[in-house]
Amino acid sequence: MARFSSMMKLVSLLCLIFVAPLAASATIVRYKFNVETQSVTRLCNTKTMLTVNGQYPGPTIYVHEGDNLIVEVNNNGPYNVTLHWHGVRQLKSCWADGPAYITQCPITPGNKFIHNFTITGQEGTLWWHAHITYLRATVHGALVILPRAGKDYPFPKPDAEIPIILGEWWNANVEDVLADAVRTGGVPNDSDAYTINGQPGDFYPCSKNDTTRILVEHGKTYLLRIVSAAVVIPHFFKIAQHTMTVVGVDGVYTKPYTTDVLVMHPGNTMDVLITAKQVSGLYYIAIRAYNTDPTSNGFLTTTTSAILQYKCSSNTSDPVLPSLPGYNDTTTAFKFKTSLRNLKPSVPKTVDEEMFITEGVGVVSCPNNSCAGYNGGRVVGSFNNVSLIMPDIAILQAYYFGIKGVFTRDFPNNPSLAYDYTGNVPLGLWQPELATKVKVLKFNSNVQIVFQDTAIVAIEEHPIHLHGHNFYVVGQGFGNYNPKTDPPSFNLVDPVMMNTLGVPAGGWAAIRFTANNPGVWLMHCHLESHSAFGFAMVFITKNGPSKSDKLPSPPPDLPKC
Ligand code: C2O
Repeated sequence: MARFSSMMKLVSLLCLIFVAPLAASATIVRYKFNVETQSVTRLCNTKTMLTVNGQYPGPTIYVHEGDNLIVEVNNNGPYNVTLHWHGVRQLKSCWADGPAYITQCPITPGNKFIHNFTITGQEGTLWWHAHITYLRATVHGALVILPRAGKDYPFPKPDAEIPIILGEWWNANVEDVLADAVRTGGVPNDSDAYTINGQPGDFYPCSKNDTTRILVEHGKTYLLRIVSAAVVIPHFFKIAQHTMTVVGVDGVYTKPYTTDVLVMHPGNTMDVLITAKQVSGLYYIAIRAYNTDPTSNGFLTTTTSAILQYKCSSNTSDPVLPSLPGYNDTTTAFKFKTSLRNLKPSVPKTVDEEMFITEGVGVVSCPNNSCAGYNGGRVVGSFNNVSLIMPDIAILQAYYFGIKGVFTRDFPNNPSLAYDYTGNVPLGLWQPELATKVKVLKFNSNVQIVFQDTAIVAIEEHPIHLHGHNFYVVGQGFGNYNPKTDPPSFNLVDPVMMNTLGVPAGGWAAIRFTANNPGVWLMHCHLESHSAFGFAMVFITKNGPSKSDKLPSPPPDLPKC
C-alpha cells in the first residue's frame, strides 16, 4: 500500500513535470476595465456618459490566438452593466459571454466581475461592448486577435495596423433615449451624429478641429481593423481614391476581395488592406447611412468623415470626398455581401436541425391606440412571431441550476402559419406572442436556419447576430424563400463565415453552423432599437458526451440575480 502510494506520488510528480509546461503555454493577458462616467463634448454639446477607463471609444484589447484573456470589470458608474465580447466563440466559457439576463445578471454599481476566457481558433478583429439597454452606444472598443507567436497572417504583413471604430453619438443621455421609447411605445430617437473613432468629422458643427486623422506614408500598406459599434444604423464606408482589399470579416479570414465600398452593419468587423499609393495629400474616409426601412424618414443623412493624411505632404488642397452609394442602395449592399468568401471553409454538408425563421418588427396593441408606434401600438421585434421577454433570472443560471418557470423550450422551428411573408401581410399577423421561449440543440448537431424578412410594418435589412458561434452564409436572395428552388444554388464550397449578417431587406438568407459549444446563446437583431424590444431568441446547446464537451460550473463571482 505504502509502495503503491509512493508510486502514485511519483506518477503525479511526473505528470506535473510533463503537464506543467503545457499548461503554462497559454499566455495570460490581463486588462482592468473601470466602467465610469466621463464628461464628453461633441457637436457643441457636453454630456456625462458611461465609458470604460474614461475613453470614448474604449481601450483596444490586444491578444494572440490561444491566449487566456482576463478582464476585471469594475462597475464604478451609476447603472447596472454587463460586458460582451462580440464574436468571441467562448468555447466552454459561456458564463463569460455577458448578455444581461441571458448568461448573467448585471454587475450592479460598486461591484465587479472578472471575465476569464481563452481565445481559441480565432484571428482578426472583434470587439467588446456593454450588453444591456442602450449603454453600448458609449461603452465599446476593439478586440484585436493577432496570430500566435511564430504564425503569420495569410496575407503579406502590413507595415502598420489601424483600428477604426464607427459609432453613433446622441446629444441626449442614451438611457433617456431608450426610456422615452419604452414609455411611449414608439421608435427611439435617432442619433445626432455618426462617428469615426469617436469624432463626427468635418461636416458637423463644432467638430472640424477634432476630425480623426489617420497618418500614412507613401508606398506603405496598412491593415485597417474596422468595427461597426453603431447602435441602430448600418453604414457604407469608402476612402476617396483608395481601393480596399477585404481579408477578414467578423474575425475570420476571407479570400482577398478588392472593392471601393464596404457595407458595415452594427456588429460587423472587417480587416481591410489599403496601400497609400495616391498623390500625397488628404483623402476623406467617409461613412453614411445604409437604410432600407422605407418608413423611417427622420434618420440622419449626414456624411461622417475622417482624413487619410499622407505624411510630409506639401499638398494643401482640401481633402477629396468619395461619392457614397444612395441610402437604400440594396444592390451595392447585396453585391458586397455575396462577394465575400471564406479562406479555409469547412461547411457542414448535412443538416440535423432545420429551421425557417421569419424576422422583423411588429406591433403590440395599446389601450385606445394610445402608444406612439404604428397604428397607435407599441413597436416590438420578433423571430417566428415570438418576441422575447427578458426574464429576471439569467437563462443560463436557470438552465444550469434547474430553476423552473424562467423559460419554456418550445421555440418553434417554423412560423405557426405560412403566408406571403414579403407581400401584403394581413394586420392580424402584425402582433407577435410575447414569451421567453428557447430552442434546444443537441451537442454537435448541424443547424441550418433560413431567415425570412417580413413586410410586417416594413421590410428592412436586419443584422442578425448569433452569440457563441460563427455561421456560414450559404445562400441569400430577395422575396420569399423557396425550399425547392433555392437550396440547389447554395454555396457549400466557400461561403463567407460571419457572426452578424444583414439579411436582405424583403428577402431571405440561409446559414449553417455546428452547435458544438454547450451553453445558452442569444441571437438577436443587432440594431439596439429592435433587440431592446424583443427582437431576439435563445438557443441552449446541450452538453456533449465527453467531459471536455460540458459546460463548466459558474465562476464564483458571477453576479447573482
Ligand atoms: Cu454585439 Cu448580443 O451582441
